[in-house]
Amino acid sequence: MSTHKLWGGRFQAQAETWVDEFGASISFDQLMADEDIEGSLAHVKMLKETKILNGSDSDQIIAGLENIQRELHAGKLHFTVENEDIHMNIESILTDEIGPVAGKLHTGRSRNDQVATDFHLYVKNRLPKIIDEIQTIQKTLVNLAEDNVETIMPGYTHLQHAQPISYGHYLMAYYSMLKRDVERFQFNMKHADISPLGAAALAGTTFPIDREFTAKELGFNDIYQNSLDAVSDRDFALEFLSNASILMMHLSRLCEEISMWVSYEFNYLELSDKYTTGSSIMPQKKNPDMAELIRGKSGRVFGHLIGLLSTMKSLPLAYNKDLQEDKEGTFDTVKTLLPALKVFNGMISTIKVNKDKMRHATENDFSNATELADYLATKGIPFREAHGIVGQLVLKGLQNHQNLQDISLDEYQKISPLIDKDVYEVLKPEVAVERRNSLGGTGFASVKKQIQIAKEELSETSKIDN
Ligand code: ARG
Repeated sequence: MSTHKLWGGRFQAQAETWVDEFGASISFDQLMADEDIEGSLAHVKMLKETKILNGSDSDQIIAGLENIQRELHAGKLHFTVENEDIHMNIESILTDEIGPVAGKLHTGRSRNDQVATDFHLYVKNRLPKIIDEIQTIQKTLVNLAEDNVETIMPGYTHLQHAQPISYGHYLMAYYSMLKRDVERFQFNMKHADISPLGAAALAGTTFPIDREFTAKELGFNDIYQNSLDAVSDRDFALEFLSNASILMMHLSRLCEEISMWVSYEFNYLELSDKYTTGSSIMPQKKNPDMAELIRGKSGRVFGHLIGLLSTMKSLPLAYNKDLQEDKEGTFDTVKTLLPALKVFNGMISTIKVNKDKMRHATENDFSNATELADYLATKGIPFREAHGIVGQLVLKGLQNHQNLQDISLDEYQKISPLIDKDVYEVLKPEVAVERRNSLGGTGFASVKKQIQIAKEELSETSKIDN
């Protein structure tokens, strides 16, 4: 007596339902139903082409699968835990629809290469949308930067006022981070775009299959050259999770700054009502919930990366059921990323910049101290000495509540007769910013240059997309 399972031949006893439930993946891997049917269609077309199956059997299977695809899109498919996973559910539905000939579909194939194929397709199919959403944010950042080339704000190190910078320059820093995120996902595509189909269980097959045929049929760019590797590695998914983690880390930093900067103490920015919420008890509150939530959601994405790394660590070759754990975290990452990117873009494209408030924050803060030291250095005082002199002035200024621009020329000339009244010009924050035109610096010309390069980069990518 065998059990009713598709693989039940050598089994005499049936597992309890709760054991089946523990082992089943259908509750989540049904997300790959489309990919699974695509993979099966490619496989059976190859079986026909290579004459491993005859034309009539293959055609029945193809028609059956196409029908199931239509039913899937119409929301009519019903999956069961008894059939364990998406692969056996589809095969079982196919059997119900076309009879025992459905059993020929699995010729020369295993669920191990089947699941690897589905999962590669799943990641590969979602990468373009993610890249697209990141590029939308990059465009928004460039537009915002363009409006704020000459918006002066304190630049921070150690969260202390360091030197005045252009807010446009700050925004372009995030543009550049996202540019590398895009490049990482593009590279990820290279590894998601390799076909494992035909690796079979672990060792290949004796059937004269044509792996190039199925790879081409599924739009894969490459084929795994080693069957053990093909069914056992998930590095393409790890790369995806790692890239997603780095991206979320970038977004979380900007979100953190938004959350601080909309606070009463800073008031540099104001978020649109559309991306904030109120408090149920404190009527005056306008909370940057969306920024906080994107920052918070970075945690679950990092968790998924560590989760899969931990699952895979020390896993012997080739397939082990542990690998079933690869999917939920990856699916959840896609589910987290796409809306987070969209909300992030909406939030920053409707942000109000309190330019005066930013500028004002640079007025009484000694963030022009480097300017003065540089000025003294250009007058011939060695920089180290100049640094010491300015340090003393800052100390005195703090004690007397006097800023560097408020020190009289007389006093300055006591330090060095070389100091002239042009020092006051140098101490203005906008002058300090404007003049920092070393490559990659915050000077207005340098920021404009960054914006110009960014626009060229973005128009290149939209050319590729079209
Ligand atoms: N549901 C399984 C997974 O997600 C499919 C592969 C099962 N293969 C096996 N040999 N049990 O990994």
